[in-house]
Amino acid sequence: MVQLTLPKNSRIGKGKRHRAPSGAGRLKLFRIYRYDPEGNENPRWDEYEVKVDECGPMVLDVLIHIKNTMDATLAFRRSCREGVCGSCAMNIGGRNTLACTHGWEEVPGEAVVVAPLPSQPVVKDLIPDLSLFYAQYASIEPWLHTTTPQPQTEWRQAPEDREKLDGLYECILCACCSTSCPSYWWNEERYLGPAALLHAYRWIIDSRDEATGERLDALEDPFKLYRCHTILNCAQVCPKGLNPAKAIAEVKRMLVERTV
Ligand code: SF4
Ligand code: SF4
Ligand code: FES
Repeated sequence: MVQLTLPKNSRIGKGKRHRAPSGAGRLKLFRIYRYDPEGNENPRWDEYEVKVDECGPMVLDVLIHIKNTMDATLAFRRSCREGVCGSCAMNIGGRNTLACTHGWEEVPGEAVVVAPLPSQPVVKDLIPDLSLFYAQYASIEPWLHTTTPQPQTEWRQAPEDREKLDGLYECILCACCSTSCPSYWWNEERYLGPAALLHAYRWIIDSRDEATGERLDALEDPFKLYRCHTILNCAQVCPKGLNPAKAIAEVKRMLVERTV
């Protein structure tokens, strides 16, 4: 029988409770994953009683409030605060999403539970290590491949061809989709995952790109593409409303069509 051994520090313990300062106002409990892989301690859930009237409506507003007024050691990523950069992706109330566009009042339950994106190593607290995710994105060569001589002004594209990129180019590489995909959890070293595959499709169907055959060849692999089992978590969590599963299905269809 297979012996499964949990890695060191895989048990999450109970952490500290940070009480709200006295005074009137609405209180909401936030339960936040804390972990420093460089230390000797196991991960823990810290709890924060937050005076929500003192912060904005989004989960990111609350995290910033906690960091500024309650616990400066809390680590998380953010940049744009507008749902554009993708850096604040995390798991909120059991769902991968962007902290800057997700209102804490949307999260049901007595406490708002906030954890890093699942299945990735943790750099610290809510910051996942996305090195593999970015390497997979780079592997699909996300730029125009051409062999014809460069035009004097620009590579032109008909409006109807440009429209084919809608629903694809808007991806902000937040990784919410890939890290919610069970196939990716189980095969992340070999399966490219929904985000990278959505981008692969975006370049395959770009009318200006001249490497369609090579791009399809590169994906014709039992693991890189065919680990997608159409579970559709990716489309359900994408904060930009994109559908990576549909793009993956299109790539599979193109591979079938070119063999018949
Ligand atoms: S549809 Fe495919 S890529 Fe999307 S979550 Fe399911 S298995 Fe993963
Ligand atoms: S497809 Fe959506 S969820 Fe996936 S990386 Fe792009 S924006 Fe994020
Ligand atoms: S901070 Fe940029 S997407 Fe949330």
